Parts: sequence; C-alpha cells; structure tokens
Amino acid sequence: MTLTETRQSTSPYLAGNFAPVAQETTAFDLRVTGTIPEGLNGRFLRIGPNPVTAPDPSTYHWFTGSGMVHGLRLRDQRAEWYRNRFVVDDSVATALGRERTAGPRHGMGSGVANTNIIGHADSTFAIVEAGGLPVQLSYDLETLAYTNFDGTLPGSFTAHPKKDPRTGELHAIVYYWEWDYLQYVVVGRDGKVRKTVNVPVPGKPMTHDCAITDTQVLVFDMPVTFDLDIAMSGQATLPYAWNPDYGCRIGLLPRDSTDGNDTVWCETEPCYVYHPLNAYDLDDGRVVCDVVKHPKMFDNDRNGPNEGAPSLWRWTLDPSSGKIHEDLIDDRGQEFPRHDERLIGQKHRYGYGAAFGNDVEHGPALKHDLVNRTTEAHDYGPGRVTLEPVFVPRNNDSAEDDGWIMSYVYDEATDLSDVVILHAQDFGGEPVATIHLPARVPFGFHGNWIAD
Ligand SMILES: [Fe+2]
Repeated sequence: MTLTETRQSTSPYLAGNFAPVAQETTAFDLRVTGTIPEGLNGRFLRIGPNPVTAPDPSTYHWFTGSGMVHGLRLRDQRAEWYRNRFVVDDSVATALGRERTAGPRHGMGSGVANTNIIGHADSTFAIVEAGGLPVQLSYDLETLAYTNFDGTLPGSFTAHPKKDPRTGELHAIVYYWEWDYLQYVVVGRDGKVRKTVNVPVPGKPMTHDCAITDTQVLVFDMPVTFDLDIAMSGQATLPYAWNPDYGCRIGLLPRDSTDGNDTVWCETEPCYVYHPLNAYDLDDGRVVCDVVKHPKMFDNDRNGPNEGAPSLWRWTLDPSSGKIHEDLIDDRGQEFPRHDERLIGQKHRYGYGAAFGNDVEHGPALKHDLVNRTTEAHDYGPGRVTLEPVFVPRNNDSAEDDGWIMSYVYDEATDLSDVVILHAQDFGGEPVATIHLPARVPFGFHGNWIAD
C-alpha cells in the first residue's frame, strides 16, 4: 500500500483527511480572499502524525506516526509562503535517504516528534510526550537537531508546556514508562531547565497535559496506564490502555515546592482528559480548571481517541475535601480547547475549540463565553471542517477576545486546505481572510501562532 492508498484504509486514522501526505511543498505568494489583518507578522505553524511509509492499518495508532510540520508565513498583510516538512526522525531518514538527525536521544523508538510546535528562547521546537526529546527546527521548518536543552533535561519532555505569561518560563509535567513518578519541569527563558520535582504516583499513567495557576501546577494522574503486554506484543501500537481501577485524580503541587510529596490530590470518577482549557486560583484555596473530558480512553478502540464524544466541563478542585466538583459547560463533541494565552493561570472568560464528535468527526469551530455560559459556532461551509483554532490577540494591550481566530480548514470538495482568519468578536460572521494553500493539511494535533 502506498501513502496515497491509505486514504481508502479500513483504519479511520489513515483514511480521508487523516491520511498522510507524501509531498513536501514550498509555495510563495499565496492567493488570499479578504484582507489579512495588519500587524500579523509571523508564522502560523501546526504539526501532526504523517507516517512516512504506509503502516499496517490494523495496528496503526494515530499518536505514533512521524511528525510533519506545516507553516504559513504572513508579513505586511501578504501570505508570503506555505511549507510542509517531515520532522526527520530515524524512520524518515531511512525511508527518504536523509542524514540521521544530530543531537542527544532519550527513550526507545525512532525519535518521533509529532504533537506540538512551539517557539521558545528564539527557537522553534517540535515536541512530544512519553520520552522523545524536542527537535529544533529552522525558521523555515527544516529539522536541525534533537535537544535536551543543553543537557539540562533529565529525561522526557511534553507536548504541552505552559508558558507563564508573567515570567516567560515553561511549566510542564512529563512522564516515561520506566519512571514511578511524574516530573514537574520548569524551563527558563534561556531555554535551560532550571527546576525539576518528581511527584510519586502508584502506576505509570499517560499524562498528556498539565495546567498552572498563579500558585499551583496541576498534575493529571488518570486511568490510562502503561500496559506491558501491549508493549511486548511487538505491534506498533501505543502501549497504554484504559485502567479504571487505577482511580482518577488531579494533584495540586505548589509551584514553589521542591518536594513532590507536597502534592494535594483531588479525586473524581474515572474519565480521561487530554486537554485543560485553563486553570486559576479562587480566593478560598479552591482551583478552577476547565477541561475537555472523554468518558474513557483506549478501551474498545486501542488505536485512537474514540470512546464517545468528549465534552467541555468546569472542574472545581477543593484541596480541603480532596474532591472535584464538576459542572457541564457544553455537551457538544469537541477537542483542542484554547484560550487567550496571555491569561494562562489566570481567570479567563472565553474559550475556543474544534468540534470533535463520535468517531473523531471534525466540524465547525466553537467559542465559549464562560460567564454567560453561551456557545457560538463558526460553520466554514459544506464539507469544510476546522482543525485546532488558535486565538491571536490584536496587539499586546488588547482586551481578552479582541483578536483573531486562526485555523487550518480542510475542504473536502477541493481536497485542499485553507488558513481561515476570523474576528474573535464576530465569531459567526464572514472570515476576515482566507489564505488558499496548494496542499492538504491532514487532521492532526496542535499548532501555534509564532509572531516574528
Ligand atoms: Fe494535545
């Protein structure tokens, strides 16, 4: 089977717009409908899995394909270029006859980095969880080297570090299958780890993300755990499975602590959360954390996140009772929650996300007003569905929600993708600009606007 033929695959994670693209494209001066807002100078980057050779559809796990990055450069209201590039892990180097990527390695496997792409310390990094190290990329998305932040990272990193808007430091919770702890990692503005704290846990949970408040880091210890039998089976699947007997709890670790035993745990019913939207402290010591919650994970479907549509909930963690109060915000199927990241760790009013229904069905973008408890949708038109929407403020001083919603949108009719820019405060209205790409951007994971 060729990469193109995977589009007819029996695996939903290889079929249609989940299918990998074979071609690396470079295109300049892209066609634009509408007007690109002034002041948007930078790159809108995203990443997802894009296996370099056709995998066995019966065992292919959506989270395991080699990374491919996609980028759109905007400058002076022009769409200057679009590029997509493989992140050159060992399987890509072998398949495409390229040089093995330099730099340190951690863990097993071919060094896949496929889950998020961020800017930090004047560099661009493709990042992943569970053991693989960050991959440093050039401005125009060529793979440069693996990095352990100049030898300061003890082991794993994560796909979801949280940048404290007040300090510019990255806060992360990381894991590795050999460890009997989760690890809190703080990366300084200089791109070097300045602090690690090991938080003991009873098993080996898959901890995809974290959240921070002004005072705490939230540690997700949830019932998807490492499964040795799967790992030993020799199949190229992800060795983590649903384990409801494990329990389900979120830890509150003071950010200034140096001892993981300071963590106060709050419990809830078994479920799985990949992504919190944001968290913040209440005056009485409780913590609010908005989350997209899946009913369970990797139970019936071991190849992707497909155990019933996830929905948006507000959790209030009470460290005095050790309980989590939960409150449904929106029962529509959704994932990839985002917000105005100038408010990471502080009280937010608005959140944004992508429809993500049963059987990983994509659709419109969603905007939540968490004060009025209302949700608006932006429908991109027939056969047009959005990937993760990203909020970009109009400028550094603009109010929350005064800015742009940017996302890659797949159009079934043309089999190509656009980048669509909405005005966040006119969410359901006509797009401000649509940039037409000469390529298809597969469904994948995360992206960010990285201003120049
Ligand atoms: Fe994620």
